[in-house]
Amino acid sequence: MSNLVIIKNKIEKFNKIIQVSGDKSLSIRWVLFASLSSGKSKAYNLLMSEDVIAALNAIKKLGIPVNYKDNVCEIEGKGLNGYKYKKNIVIDAKNSGTLGRLILGLIIDTPFKIKLIGDKSLSKRDFKRVTDPLSLFGAKFKLHNDKGLPLTIVGTNKTKPIKYFEKKGSAQCKSSIIFAGLKTKGTTVIKAKKSRNHSELLCKYLKLPVNIKNKKNFDIIKVSNANIIKPLNYKIPSDISSSAFFIVLTALNKNSQIIIKNVNVNPSRTGVIKILKMMGVKIIFKNKKLYKGELVSDILVKSAKKIRSINCPTKFNSQAIDEFLVIFLVAAKADGISTFKNLEELNQKESPRLKLGSKILNLMGIKTITTNNSIKIFGNPALKLNKKIIIKNYLKDHRIFMTSVIAAMTFGGEWHIHDKDSISTSFPSFLKIVNKIIK
Ligand code: S3P
Repeated sequence: MSNLVIIKNKIEKFNKIIQVSGDKSLSIRWVLFASLSSGKSKAYNLLMSEDVIAALNAIKKLGIPVNYKDNVCEIEGKGLNGYKYKKNIVIDAKNSGTLGRLILGLIIDTPFKIKLIGDKSLSKRDFKRVTDPLSLFGAKFKLHNDKGLPLTIVGTNKTKPIKYFEKKGSAQCKSSIIFAGLKTKGTTVIKAKKSRNHSELLCKYLKLPVNIKNKKNFDIIKVSNANIIKPLNYKIPSDISSSAFFIVLTALNKNSQIIIKNVNVNPSRTGVIKILKMMGVKIIFKNKKLYKGELVSDILVKSAKKIRSINCPTKFNSQAIDEFLVIFLVAAKADGISTFKNLEELNQKESPRLKLGSKILNLMGIKTITTNNSIKIFGNPALKLNKKIIIKNYLKDHRIFMTSVIAAMTFGGEWHIHDKDSISTSFPSFLKIVNKIIK
């Protein structure tokens, strides 16, 4: 099958109810927590994308039995010290920064050398941000070019608790330290710039020895060594990052409406909603409830009559970090200049997204002024495309592919978008849902 998608038609008005797949951050975290638990955990609606399958394969390599049948995943944890494996194993995190970084915290006490590898995109990404704090626990790392993958870890069973200031707002670094802290005698203290807090909420739900104090710009997290992690049965709510593509499609398309069912709307993830509301998009949460510590809701979105430009408050940056590419499409249709600042982390993702997002807007005829951490987007409310646009060579970044599909359906023109397979990392059913909306 061809890996190229050609889109020539703008979408007509629609009114749909959809459900997107399970949340990626929660799916990977469930796999990792379950692998340390004492007993059998079950997950329903686990996202079966390549990133999560890589997580399942990683724990299998560590000797933990996994069984997937009839849409239910079972993991049989053997306790906090229950990993059993041979010397010199290799763990392949594929495209997943979350898996690659979090798993290092779980194997902080490995007695044997473990090698961590990933695909071309992951190998270019910064792992020093996580091996720096994890080295303080006493583990030893060797990184390719002192920065990335492949890397090797040799752990120690005499880990020491640490005090660390996580300044980037990276949930992956924070979570990795939390896992290492759960395996270490004494109390580890993390001062962490605000970022998604799924790991902390799971710890709280599982009654693990984790204490959190929320300050204005950062959190203080104290983690002590856990004795036992109880098995966790979990129905994974849907992913707001996957929902964001359809939220934007609806907002930018005339006379349309969508309801997206049962989405995880943890406030540390809803930056996209807050930003789009400021830009004039009508979004309403319905049937909001608490599920095992996480907020879950249906999301109703209506097309926007007019899109306002925004000077985006930087406090939303970490809450919307995976959604900026689609947010930029909204800014492209705004009635003025939008500004987004302090976004250096956006160039640290599966591809340099600030740079490539800006390039896509330019291909669409939208003027941008881009630095290494900011972008100004000169919106055009009358934007309609009438030309051929080719999206190719972007490190197979799944979110670039999906954003381009949404742009094609919204603004018209003839789009040739390469690397369709990239969606299998986070949202394999993306094109199926697109087709359901078109019909
Ligand atoms: C994630 C954290 C974010 C995000 C990624 C998933 C997580 O990365 O971009 O897609 O599940 O912890 P950083 O922690 O590096 O910001």
